[in-house]
Amino acid sequence: MTSIKGKVVWITGASSGIGEELAYQLAQKGAILILSARRMEKLNQVRDRCRAEHNAQAVVYPLDMTDLEAIDEAVSYLLSKFSHIDILINNAGFGHTQSFLDYDIKKAENMFQVNVLGLMYLSQLVGKNMRQFEKGHIVNVASVAGKVATPKSAVYSASKFAVTGFTNALRMELKPHNIKVTAINPGPVDTAFFDEFDPSGEYLDNVSSVVLTSEYVVNKTIRAIETNKREINLPKRLAVGSKIHTIAPAFGDFFIRTAFNKK
Ligand SMILES: NC(=O)c1ccc[n+]([C@@H]2O[C@H](COP(=O)([O-])OP(=O)(O)OC[C@H]3O[C@@H](n4cnc5c(N)ncnc54)[C@H](OP(=O)(O)O)[C@@H]3O)[C@@H](O)[C@H]2O)c1
Repeated sequence: MTSIKGKVVWITGASSGIGEELAYQLAQKGAILILSARRMEKLNQVRDRCRAEHNAQAVVYPLDMTDLEAIDEAVSYLLSKFSHIDILINNAGFGHTQSFLDYDIKKAENMFQVNVLGLMYLSQLVGKNMRQFEKGHIVNVASVAGKVATPKSAVYSASKFAVTGFTNALRMELKPHNIKVTAINPGPVDTAFFDEFDPSGEYLDNVSSVVLTSEYVVNKTIRAIETNKREINLPKRLAVGSKIHTIAPAFGDFFIRTAFNKK
């Protein structure tokens, strides 16, 4: 079991939801935190709480994941301060629910920049640092939507399928360098994600029986890091559903069309 204490952990999307909760639980475990997202004020609040409640070492580095140059600069600056990143948690991301034929393709471009390209580029730059030290752990927050697609989430699902494929390939490539790679695949989690995903709030109500808290997801995520899990799929019911979908896709499509068309 790997200890988190004293490890340098970089969390993207640390200003809210799962990323914010990761900061608190990792601070409690004694991690040294780098907190990134766009909203500086929110990040400062998260950092201050990590310091006040857990006496944690935490720094804020504002970063827009659509800006590849800014990612470059962030990595150079942070490596000059910390020399090695032990754990990178690629968590920044967002989604929308909308019928694809009515979906603005510019929004799709933006989503792929954040959810996929930014994540890939940061993994590449930090991965090179980890390779130098022959150790490290990259954790990608994908989604159950990256294992089973649902109607009215074509673009979000596609972005998360991309993260899943990338993560699976990266795990094999980096194994000889002693770099671990883990995918976190939650179902719906009650966070600000849904303010943008479905402003009507109907979807969250409709799937309330499987909605998770960020505290629960983060607890399982940290356990997956400590025990070097390949991936985790939450909750169990959706994990089983995704396995059934792989074995019987036509039946799976029928079920999903009925159950998830409530968006
Ligand atoms: N909630 C769910 O149901 C659910 C389920 C499965 C997977 N996930 C995944 O979990 C991750 C975290 O989501 P969440 O539920 O915690 O949602 P959230 O509360 O909305 O948090 C999203 C985070 O991503 C950051 N972000 C968004 N766009 C960014 C950009 N251009 N550059 C940098 N940071 C950006 C946001 O920070 P700023 O706005 O300050 O930049 C925020 O910190 C996402 O990847 C999401 O796809 C969520």
